[in-house]
Amino acid sequence: MALFRAVETAERADRRLFDDPLAAAFLTGRLKALAAFARLPAIGRLATYFLDLGWPRTRSSAVVRTRLIDDLVRQAIRSGARQALLLGAGFDSRPYRLEELRGVPLFEVDHPSTQRAKRQRLQTHLGPLPGNVHFAPVDFEKDDLETTLMHAGFDTTVATVAVWEGVVSYLTPAAVDQSFRTLARILSEGSHLIFSYVHQGALDGSVAFREARRWKSSVRSSGEPFIFGFDPAGLADYLRPRGFALVSDVSTAEAAKSYCEPLHRNEPGSELYRIAAAQRAAV
Ligand SMILES: C[S@@+](CC[C@H](N)C(=O)[O-])C[C@H]1O[C@@H](n2cnc3c(N)ncnc32)[C@H](O)[C@@H]1O
Repeated sequence: MALFRAVETAERADRRLFDDPLAAAFLTGRLKALAAFARLPAIGRLATYFLDLGWPRTRSSAVVRTRLIDDLVRQAIRSGARQALLLGAGFDSRPYRLEELRGVPLFEVDHPSTQRAKRQRLQTHLGPLPGNVHFAPVDFEKDDLETTLMHAGFDTTVATVAVWEGVVSYLTPAAVDQSFRTLARILSEGSHLIFSYVHQGALDGSVAFREARRWKSSVRSSGEPFIFGFDPAGLADYLRPRGFALVSDVSTAEAAKSYCEPLHRNEPGSELYRIAAAQRAAV
C-alpha cells in the first residue's frame, strides 16, 4: 500500500488523488527504488505501467480506496467525530497528513511487529511524533483490543471515526466477529466505522472477477492470503446484530468512476474490493 501511495504521490499535482509524502519514506529496498523511479520526469510513468501489468487493477483499486477513506474521515470529523482510531494502521500516514486529524486524539492499533517498524521509520523522518497520536500494539487474533485501548487512554464517550482499512481479509471469521463486538462496546452511539473488504464471491469462486486469480495468488505468495470476505448483499444483516448500521458500501470500481474519470484517468478499480461505512447504532 505504501508503494502504491508513493507512486500516486509522484503523479502531477493536477492529476493525483492525494499527496502522501511519507509513503516513500516508509519503503525500503526494491520498493523504495521503484518509488524513486516513479518520481523521474517522463519515464517515471513507466512505474504505473509495470505495476498495472503485474497486478492488474490493484494499484488503482488501492489509491481510490485511500482517497475515498480520506474523504469519509474528513466528513466524519466535520460531522462531529472528536477522536480517531486506526485499526491495523500499517503504513497509513493519515494522522500526519490530514489537516482534519491534527490535534484530534488518535489511536494507532496494529500488530506489534508492524507497529514497531512504523514507529522507527516515523521517528527517523518526523523526529518527535505529534502528541495527539497514541500507539496500541494488538494482535486481533489473540489480544484484548478493548483493554489495550483503555490503557492507552481511549475515550468511550466521544464520537469517534474508526478506520479498518485492508485488514479484515487477513483475519479469521472469529477474530472479525470478536472485533466488531468489541468495537460496538467501545464506540459511542453515532461513531463512524469505515472498513474495506474483499467480495466473498472472489474467495469462494462463486462470482467471476477477472482479476481475482492474480490478486489471490499475489497475496498468497507474499505470505498473507485473503481468508475472509463479505457478500455485499448480506453485509447490513451481518452488522445489525453487532451494533452497526450500514451507511454506504461501494466497490473500488465505482469509486474509480467518481475520482479518476473526471481527471481523464482511465484506471478502472475493481468490483471485488469494496469500502463500507457504518455507524454505531443506538443501543
Ligand atoms: C494490507 S495492510 C493495511 C495497512 C493499512 N491499514 C493500509 O491500508 O495501508 C494490513 C494490516 O493489517 C495488520 N494485521 C494483519 N493481521 C493482523 C492481526 N492479526 N492483528 C493486528 N493487525 C493485523 C498488519 O499488521 C497490517 O498493518
